[in-house]
Amino acid sequence: MSDNIESTLTETRHFAPSAEFTENARLKPADLEALHQKAEADYEGFWCDLAREKIDWQTEFTQGLDESKAPHYQWFADGRMNVSYNCIDRHLEVRGNKTAIVFEAENGDTRHLTYRDLYNEVGKLANALKGMGVVKGDRVIIYMPMNAEAVIAMQACARIGAIHSVVFGGFSADALRDRVVDSGSKVVITADGGERGGKVVGLKANVDKALDSNPGDVEKVVVCKRAGNDVTMHADRDVWWEDAVDGESVDCEPEWVEAEHPLFLLYTSGSTGKPKGIQHSSAGYLLGAIVTNEWVFDLQGDDVYWCTADVGWITGHTYVAYGPLAVGATQVVYEGTPTVPDAGRWWKMCQDHGVTVFYTAPTAIRALMKAGPDLPKQYDLSKLRLLGTVGEPINPEAWMWYYTTVGEERCPIVDTWWQTETGANMIAPIPGATTLVPGSCTQALPGIAADVVDEDGKSLGADEGGYLVIKKPWPHMLRTVWGDDQRYKDTYWPKFGGKYYLAGDSARRDSEGNFWIMGRIDDVLNVSGHRMGTMEVESALVAHKAVAEAAVVGRPHDVKGEAIVAFVILQGDRLTGDEAEEMVKELRNWVADQIGPIAKPDDIRFADGLPKTRSGKIMRRLLRSIAKGEEITSDTSTLENEAVIPQLQGKA
Ligand code: WTA
Repeated sequence: MSDNIESTLTETRHFAPSAEFTENARLKPADLEALHQKAEADYEGFWCDLAREKIDWQTEFTQGLDESKAPHYQWFADGRMNVSYNCIDRHLEVRGNKTAIVFEAENGDTRHLTYRDLYNEVGKLANALKGMGVVKGDRVIIYMPMNAEAVIAMQACARIGAIHSVVFGGFSADALRDRVVDSGSKVVITADGGERGGKVVGLKANVDKALDSNPGDVEKVVVCKRAGNDVTMHADRDVWWEDAVDGESVDCEPEWVEAEHPLFLLYTSGSTGKPKGIQHSSAGYLLGAIVTNEWVFDLQGDDVYWCTADVGWITGHTYVAYGPLAVGATQVVYEGTPTVPDAGRWWKMCQDHGVTVFYTAPTAIRALMKAGPDLPKQYDLSKLRLLGTVGEPINPEAWMWYYTTVGEERCPIVDTWWQTETGANMIAPIPGATTLVPGSCTQALPGIAADVVDEDGKSLGADEGGYLVIKKPWPHMLRTVWGDDQRYKDTYWPKFGGKYYLAGDSARRDSEGNFWIMGRIDDVLNVSGHRMGTMEVESALVAHKAVAEAAVVGRPHDVKGEAIVAFVILQGDRLTGDEAEEMVKELRNWVADQIGPIAKPDDIRFADGLPKTRSGKIMRRLLRSIAKGEEITSDTSTLENEAVIPQLQGKA
């Protein structure tokens, strides 16, 4: 990935919006300028006006930004509203019969849900959850395939003020259990199984395994019938979704919650072994979801939007479950892999459903570009008008392919920088106004005070690399780490007198003021656009009885962005040959069991020890060079155990 960043350093191509795009866009250059000016002149008023305009309130707020508990900032705190009401009910009169979700399964089965259908389904499930004793503030785990029911489950929780925590369906039983226990969840909503690549993933079986080892506070498990695989139902605990909603009314009065009431938790990796539960608010979060879907994705009445992210990630929250619904859009939801039956599947779906706005990740673009560079040309993609990317810096080669072959040189590409913690897009082009530069996420959105600063918090000049920070609290920022305020402070506000939000990325701005993201400053890898803590993988490895010590680093990978390389010291003697190969297999599967298949190391190497300084510190920089296969030119004689280097290089 760093090679890609190198090549973007010399990027000079610029793509200004076409007159036609600008003409039809929600925001034209003058509108964008006006928004920036307003945010500049009256920051709090800017956000308050938007909150009044974009959100339907049950009780209007009188307070804007409250800094009294900083860095636990609050917005619109004395207002009351309901997120599900804002995503569904308020559309019923004008667009009740408009399609909200077009769902397609991997086998091609398709289902349309209107806003009215969504209202009915969400209402029934919300009533069923209430019947199970779920009340405002209770936590609910959602461990589902990427189907319409996952969105319905999230909306049902929001409707009754329950705090959901979606766990990606690709995470293992162990990872699920940790999240069930940490969140203190009362209910788990799952499915019998999910279908991916023609195979069934036993989601319910994983729930059983997780709860068998530690049920935490779970009282009920709701099981959606999806893949039809055999499952064991526990008499007092488990209930089929369809039985749970049977006879329930479609009408469920929304729980009017305070603006700051937590809408959801989403666990994400950091620099320690334990993922943290990022806690988001209701109103501030929703506002971010709404304005970015309008500004960045330019969503309008007849758009068909498709964000390919799974609801297990933040992108699937803001750009599937909440934002598109809050703005009344029609969106596509797909459960399946992009390569079934071949790498043209997504392009075929864009054609079949008339997708106009498409949002995905660079890793997917690179994989599809490799698997079928000409496949998009076999489909009619003429409806597409806007493309987006998120998750990691996009290399210009992939950008250009996306632009020319998928977007047919007609569609602007919005490269959106943001994080689980930021709730919504933060630095991104406005498609009708911003000149694009491949590889750059361009400029901060109106009302977002992004900057690049040095160690002392001083703004840096053009092309100077430093810390990416946000200098003012914004409505859709995280509120805390669930159950761990200290960790929230230590992770995001450790520098600059606690005044600036530290994103954990390094960045630079070019002479035109465009932002270029350079990578993480902590021990977090970006594997296929997913955050993976090196410590998390290390903890999983050392939990295996054969492992004494492990160090994990990233190495550039042309599709995944980064690949995971693990250096492992076994208990007893170092293994070689067939025995080593067997152990590699076992450890890869072990990590998949502990975390999930996405955490499987690509490369595992054994040695008698890790390279350490005489004070016992692991030389991670050296390990990164070794992982990349670089020649070791630095002086290693100060190492405690120089002899391990050839072993780690696979040369001895
Ligand atoms: C990286 C995903 C460059 C970055 C929404 C960030 C990006 C982390 C971009 C957050 C982008 C995300 N360009 N890097 N457009 N988007 N990142 O929490 O390192 O899964 O800190 O949120 O992904 O990952 P997360």
